[in-house]
Amino acid sequence: MIKLDYSNVLSERIGEEHGISLEDIESFQEQIPKIEEEINLRRDTDFYFMNMPFQNLERIKEVGKNIRENFEYFVVIGIGGSALGNQTLNESINGLGYNYKKYPKFFVLDNVDPEKFSSVLEQIDLKKTVFNIITKSGSTTETVANFLVILNMLKSYVGEDWKKYLIITTDPQRGFLRKFADQEGIISFDIPKNLGGRFSVLSNVGLLSAISSGIDVEELLEGSRYAYTVCSNSKILENPAYLIGVIHYIASTKKGKSISVMMSYSERLSLFVDWYRQLWAESLGKEGLGQTPVKAIGSIDQHSQIQLYIDGPKDKIVTFLKVESMERDFKIEGDVPAELEYLKGKSLKQILDALMEGTKTALIKASVPNLTISIEKLTPYSIGMLIYIYEMATGFSGLLYGINPFDQPAVEEGKNFVYGLMGREEFEEKLQEYNLLNKSSSILEV
Ligand code: PA5
Repeated sequence: MIKLDYSNVLSERIGEEHGISLEDIESFQEQIPKIEEEINLRRDTDFYFMNMPFQNLERIKEVGKNIRENFEYFVVIGIGGSALGNQTLNESINGLGYNYKKYPKFFVLDNVDPEKFSSVLEQIDLKKTVFNIITKSGSTTETVANFLVILNMLKSYVGEDWKKYLIITTDPQRGFLRKFADQEGIISFDIPKNLGGRFSVLSNVGLLSAISSGIDVEELLEGSRYAYTVCSNSKILENPAYLIGVIHYIASTKKGKSISVMMSYSERLSLFVDWYRQLWAESLGKEGLGQTPVKAIGSIDQHSQIQLYIDGPKDKIVTFLKVESMERDFKIEGDVPAELEYLKGKSLKQILDALMEGTKTALIKASVPNLTISIEKLTPYSIGMLIYIYEMATGFSGLLYGINPFDQPAVEEGKNFVYGLMGREEFEEKLQEYNLLNKSSSILEV
């Protein structure tokens, strides 16, 4: 079960200036029929992620089983939406330190930082590694560059068997990698044509690494199916996705909250927060609208960020993530010095909870709106729910803002300058534009 406590965003708790009234929230109810009509119309196009909970998993489970039996290392080569979902599932469900305890060990090559590349290489054995190249477009520079380096290594290290070490996950028709996979007879998976990168974690994109690392993906999708039902409720106050969307929309457009902090008091959800950051930023940051998502981890960031959240500019709304029941806990027992007696008999989880409660209350006192999402336990089911709720909250918010949450023209702009710089055919104009924009520079060299 997932609980969404929004008491601390309400004006009756934190005051009129920064708080939101229940009437404010309910006033959006009249927009729901039109928004739902739009969502249903676009369900098989932009809102394609809504179909993911109902997939057939037969083939991917078979390939995943084969990987578990035959490989010791699983490396995803992909970036952004093609990487973060994989990392989120692994860390939140398999727990911290998976690679120290289990096989196949899991790595992601997203960046083209050669030192990171080298550190991954040092931890794997090419002869025991399967590489899953994930890219919707089939052309993202970082992904194809990392892939080409690995391909060459495989050819010289494992010889003619190199194809056995590759899996390609890409568009069903378009792009260089689709052609490559088909021509070379490499095992491949489709990323559905209408499914955007950051909404793809519950598709083939995220599922293969999940299955290979032993995650029960049937249960994951079952959780997302339950969230699908819950998020089909037309009443804002009964639908977590709508409630998250409406609260953040009001906070952003009427209360000056241009920053949405997500602060997790479970480190296993750290990468989930990274995933959320991409989803919220890339989907809603358009036409001068949107909120800047900021990541924080409790209690660590109490000693880094909280001063600013409480006493700095009043431009933030905070979402706390809490896990009710953790797999292990440790009690403070035995001899405890008198000054620390107040901690005797307490467990680390009790202290963590108290730290969160203390921070929340300080935020209430400073009139900083905050929500708490409590997850009973981190399981495939609850993570499936959480992911779907946030995907729907994001798609729904896009319609509230009146922008398209499913494109990323500004990201494409940056990618195109890179193509120009790297000398890709048909991007000569981008190189010229780059030179023009970078004509003058002011540099201090010391
Ligand atoms: O959400 C998105 O569409 C992006 O973040 C992409 O996932 C990212 O740019 C990688 O693109 P691709 O999967 O085409 O390599």
